[in-house]
Amino acid sequence: MSKVLIVYATRAGGTKKLAEMIADGIRAEGKEVEIKPVTYIKKREDLQGYDAYVFGSATYHGSMIQAMKKMLFMAEGGGLNRKPGAAFGTYGWSGEAPIRIYETMKNIFEMDMVEKPFRVKTADITSPEVKEQAEKLGREIAKKI
Ligand SMILES: Cc1cc2nc3c(=O)[nH]c(=O)nc-3n(C[C@H](O)[C@H](O)[C@H](O)COP(=O)(O)O)c2cc1C
Repeated sequence: MSKVLIVYATRAGGTKKLAEMIADGIRAEGKEVEIKPVTYIKKREDLQGYDAYVFGSATYHGSMIQAMKKMLFMAEGGGLNRKPGAAFGTYGWSGEAPIRIYETMKNIFEMDMVEKPFRVKTADITSPEVKEQAEKLGREIAKKI
């Protein structure tokens, strides 16, 4: 069965919550999903064997969390090319991380990206609209497989 990998980088847990909501949407389309913290991805092979990839990071000091940067460098040449992809993350006011991740997936890995990065303000994380949007993103990525 087709399988999606979600990798997230978080400090306070918000971006992990978002990952779980996106996973619900993927499962709703009948696809398998694995959710992993970025620290579990130690080598290129850890990224292999999936049909689509969803990467997320919170924004700190205008940037993605360092471990996600490291993983994106490592992922180059790791077989992600042209596979379906999406990027997400919670943020406070500027939210650069999901944009930078999205751009890397699109321009370096040439992935088949969903329309835009999925960015959620910390204060909105518990809103029903966000849950709905996250599940919609999950369904969208699953349908691309
Ligand atoms: C020290 C610090 C720096 C931050 N820097 C930014 C920032 O540059 N831009 C932004 O949008 N949010 C910033 N935030 C807010 C976080 O992105 C926000 O709280 C986010 O939801 C945290 O996600 P997490 O729960 O997944 O760690 C910062 C928060 C802290 C504590």
